[in-house]
Amino acid sequence: MQNLIERAAQAIRRSRKTIALTGAGISAESGIPTFRDPGGLWDRYDPEEYATIQAFRSDPAKGWPMMKDFTELKTAKPNPGHHGLAQLEQMGMLHCIITQNVDNLHQAAGNRDVIEFHGNMRQVVCMSCRKLLPLDEISLDTLPPYCSCKGVFKPAGVFFGEPIPVDAMYRSQEAAQSCDLILVIGTSTVVYPAADIPRISKDLEKKPKYNSVNLCHIKRYGGRREVLSYSPKESGAQVIEINPEKTDLTQRISDFIIQEKAGVAIPQIVAAIKAMAS
Ligand code: APR
Repeated sequence: MQNLIERAAQAIRRSRKTIALTGAGISAESGIPTFRDPGGLWDRYDPEEYATIQAFRSDPAKGWPMMKDFTELKTAKPNPGHHGLAQLEQMGMLHCIITQNVDNLHQAAGNRDVIEFHGNMRQVVCMSCRKLLPLDEISLDTLPPYCSCKGVFKPAGVFFGEPIPVDAMYRSQEAAQSCDLILVIGTSTVVYPAADIPRISKDLEKKPKYNSVNLCHIKRYGGRREVLSYSPKESGAQVIEINPEKTDLTQRISDFIIQEKAGVAIPQIVAAIKAMAS
């Protein structure tokens, strides 16, 4: 393991532009359950019933209890994995984080450039007037909560079937196309278009597989068949995974995987970088 930690540290030191793509796994050690691991959120709630925009539109009162139940989101604190990425940014060795997480923990750890690819569940948005408010500023005593314009409030995270925020989409593609190293941390890489970002980074042509007018914007689960047939040329960005489990990327796109918890591996990488610099 130490050898892979040093390889990752060396790669970051030599990199012209390193970015990170993070998923629920980096927040697991902060007590927030992931989605697809045993005992994860989708074990408790069927995403088709609770996490699609169609389901929320047809019955907002049904979608909200899941949010209310997700109490960990309100109390969780950043862990050594989050703090390690904040240190890399402060050391000038991490350009930005593209996160699928909706828990605000990268920002709480001190990272300044965080692209919230799936929005932020610590905020709510009115489905009529689009007013955005911190979750703490509304009462969840009666569900669904209503805006002063009489519109229904929705958690400001991106539900399946909803478009990815335009700014997040373009900034992520720009970062993926211009980086020479991407750290892929704590994600199962099964939800698109987020799961496409490592492949865009790796790909010599650096072209997104989909142009910006079709499905690419819509958050969806699966549909990998098409992507599997694609074999990127080898001289794009280096892709390093940090995840206790292998993922769909491991055999196809990643240069190597550090099969360790993020809260353990990232501080070790930071320490190795500092040791190399001294
Ligand atoms: N450190 C690093 N990785 C971990 C850790 C840990 N401590 N614990 C678990 N993991 C890994 C798991 O092995 C798994 O590969 O994190 C991954 C979590 O996968 P998912 O639960 O599928 O979460 P994620 O990939 O972020 O989901 C993507 O799906 O449900 C939607 O919108 C939701 O943003 C989410 C998207």
